[in-house]
Parts: sequence; C-alpha cells; structure tokens
Amino acid sequence: MKDSKELLQRIAALRLRLDTAPRPIDEGVVAIAEAPNRSAATLEQKVAQGRNHHFHLDRALRPLDEQPSFDIRTLPDRLTAAGARLLKQAREMLHDLRSLAEDPALPKEEDEPLTKLHRETAGLIDVILRMVQAFPSSPTVQLRMCRHLEGVIESAERNLDVLHAGLKHRSTEQTRIDYLADLINRIAAGQSVSLEALNQLSEQIWQDAKHGRPLRFLYSPPSDPARFAAAHGLTTAQVMARILLDDPDWKDRPHEALTPTLIHDVGMARMPGEILMRKEPLNEEQRRLIERHPTACFQALSKLWPTGSWQILAIGDHHERLDGTGYPQGRGDLGLTPFVRLLSVCDVYSALACRRPHRPAFDTRTALTETMLMGDRGSLDPNQAEKLMRLGFHPIGSLVQLSDGAIGIILDTKGKHRAKPNPARPRVLVVRQADGHSPPLPSVLDLQEEADLSVVRGLAEAERRTLIGRTYPELA
Ligand SMILES: [Fe+2]
Ligand SMILES: [Fe+2]
Repeated sequence: MKDSKELLQRIAALRLRLDTAPRPIDEGVVAIAEAPNRSAATLEQKVAQGRNHHFHLDRALRPLDEQPSFDIRTLPDRLTAAGARLLKQAREMLHDLRSLAEDPALPKEEDEPLTKLHRETAGLIDVILRMVQAFPSSPTVQLRMCRHLEGVIESAERNLDVLHAGLKHRSTEQTRIDYLADLINRIAAGQSVSLEALNQLSEQIWQDAKHGRPLRFLYSPPSDPARFAAAHGLTTAQVMARILLDDPDWKDRPHEALTPTLIHDVGMARMPGEILMRKEPLNEEQRRLIERHPTACFQALSKLWPTGSWQILAIGDHHERLDGTGYPQGRGDLGLTPFVRLLSVCDVYSALACRRPHRPAFDTRTALTETMLMGDRGSLDPNQAEKLMRLGFHPIGSLVQLSDGAIGIILDTKGKHRAKPNPARPRVLVVRQADGHSPPLPSVLDLQEEADLSVVRGLAEAERRTLIGRTYPELA
C-alpha cells in the first residue's frame, strides 16, 4: 500500500507540472502553400533529418524498450480492463510519436520548440508505461491509478495534436523555402527558370499580406547558402508586401516588386557556406568574396528579365548605400531607383530581425529603429525607411504583451473594416489570454475596437520561444 501511495503521489506531482497544456493552432489562420516539386537533394536531406530524429527518439526511449520489465511477462499478474486500455493508448501514442520522428519537417536542432515538445511527449509516454508496469495487483488501486493517469494521457494527447498541427504548418514553410531554394540554385547555375514559377510564390505572399496572416521571420542556416538566401528572400518579400499593400504605385502590380525581392540574394548560392557560417569577423579576402554576391548572377538573371532591366539592376544594387559606404561599387546615390532604395530598407530590416551565425535576432522594434536610424544617418533613403512605419509601432509579426497581460502576434495595422491603417491600434492574434491560459484556438483582437487595451512591450526571440514554444511552436 505504501508503494501505491508513493505512485499516486508521483502521478499527482506529474499532473501538477502539466498545468500549461498546449493547444493545436487554427489551420485557417496560417498560409497554406501549394506543394511544389522538391529536388532529390532536398528530399535526401529531409530523409537524413528524419533518421536523426528517429535516432534521438530511440535514444530517449531505449531504456524503456531495453527494460526487461516492459516485457508483457512483467506486467502485473492481473491487469484491469482500464489498465489494459491505458497501456494500449500509451503504446498507440508511442507509435504515433515514432512516426512523427520520421517527419522531415521536425527540426533537427535540439533547442527548437517542436523538437523539445516531441522529446517532452516521449517522456510523458515513458512515464505512463512505467507506471502501468508498476501497478499493484489490487484492482481497486489499479482503477484509482488509472483515473490519476488519465490527466497525463490527456496531456500527451494534446502534445501530439500540437505536434501534428505544428509539423503540418512547418512543412508548409519548409516547402516554400525548398521550392525557392531550388529555383535560386537553378538560376545561380545558369539554368532556365520560368518567371511564372516565381510569380506564383509572390502571389502567395501577397495574398498572405492581404488577408492579415502572420508574418514569419524565416531562417535557414547558411551552411546551405541557397536555402539561407531563400528563407531571407521570403522574409524580405513578406515585409515588402505589407509595405506595398496600400501603395498606389505598386498595389496593382505587386509581383513586379515581390519577385525580384524573393531572389535578390540569388548570388549567395554561389558563396561558400563555411564562410557564411563563420561567427568571427571575415578577413579581407573573405569579405571581398561575399561582396561579389550582388553581381554574381547577372548573366543568369537575364534569362528571367531582358539584360539591363530594372529588376536586374535592383538586385545588383541592393547593397549600395546613399553615402557611398555600400558595395560592390560604393557609388553613392547616383542612379539608385526608388525601388532599390526600398528593397535595401526591407533587406536590412529583415536581416536584423532574424538571427545570424554571429548574433541573435534583434527584437523587431529594435530592428525597425536601427534601420530607420540608418536612414537618418544618410546610409539608407530616409523617405523609404520611413515606410517601415506602415508595419506599425510594434511591427507586424512581433510578439507583444498587451496592457491586460495577454500575449499576441501583431497581424496588421488595417484589418478588413478600416478605411486606413492605424499603426498604433493594430489587429492582434491572441495566443495567451490575460489569465495566462492559451485559448484552444488563437483569436483575433482588433485594438481599434478595444479602447481600454494597448500594446505595452515587444518580446525578444528567446522570450517568444519560452512563452509560446509549447503551445504554438509553429509561431515561436
Ligand atoms: Fe545581399
Ligand atoms: Fe539580402
């Protein structure tokens, strides 16, 4: 009886730790990309990633499998129907978890929220299975223990729901990155790529912006330079799309701006990954090499647009600065078109708001301020930099805390029912309510209609992962 009491206490302690239960995200809230063909190399990489996860899951659960006590012979002499049901549920969840470990969308980095949640769920299932093994023979006590373990089972099930939804969403994002990386690789290799394929991606980004879907700051390590350029190109295009939404010069022809933005760093695909991955400052030779990336693919780009067209010139000039400090030519403001000046602004802001091997991501408001300061100091065009304010005082995509304590993601500054944007009163996707609980589905709050509420602060990347990593890992 003493053992039973101890077991019950352990179950109760475990349930206490599970008080913040994760919830699946509304699939309708996020953008669903079409599923373009993946290159063989990408698929191979994903299979390798899947193996890696399987390895980690196996490692986490091996002690369980290797336990002779897990053998059916070591289960209690008499297992009640409730105990047998619990055991079956736990084994089915284990099977589900193992199949998720094969999902190429599961990140391989140990500190990613989805990876952590996967590991944590494996731990929960492990606990359930071990508890069942330790059940005493008494049916009464078994029933009581089963009732206590039901809460743990529910938590593991919720985790699995979150994992399924999160991996589905991440798979969509990864598919977009792979798709663009494949096009970038082909352009960089001088192969033919249809402009239509790029315009389709531009259209998805434009529709995301029009419908106020969350802006995602995408990052892929530069060990694969084309994927790195693709993730950054997608982020920059998402920012550009939100700035151009109400711009009379561009809103009727968004692809003309978004498509060159998507591939503005196509030259990065020709740069060595080991240099891009360096955490230390580059030496002179490495720096000169990297500074060739804006012009690295001029000839290949002429297959997309006629040689000398403004899109190619913009890609070549996106690191030129008005005060002459840019590259590759350092030619100052001579001939820099309004578009390339805006592209440079979106490029700098997007790069600052994402992590790099040598630094963490700036929080979005700091990234915005730093970019606008570059306008004030004469490096970027101040008039174009000022357009960043269209993203809001806390820029679109930021995770923020509201005055009542709730946590949400800034969706847009306009919404469907407003005549014009209001940067101070954005629409927010609430992912954690004022009472600290995460809603079953995130809800949209229009601050224009909530006079008592305001945004009080933005949250940095590390805090973002901690606060919503378990509940909405796909948005963390
Ligand atoms: Fe660049
Ligand atoms: Fe860039």
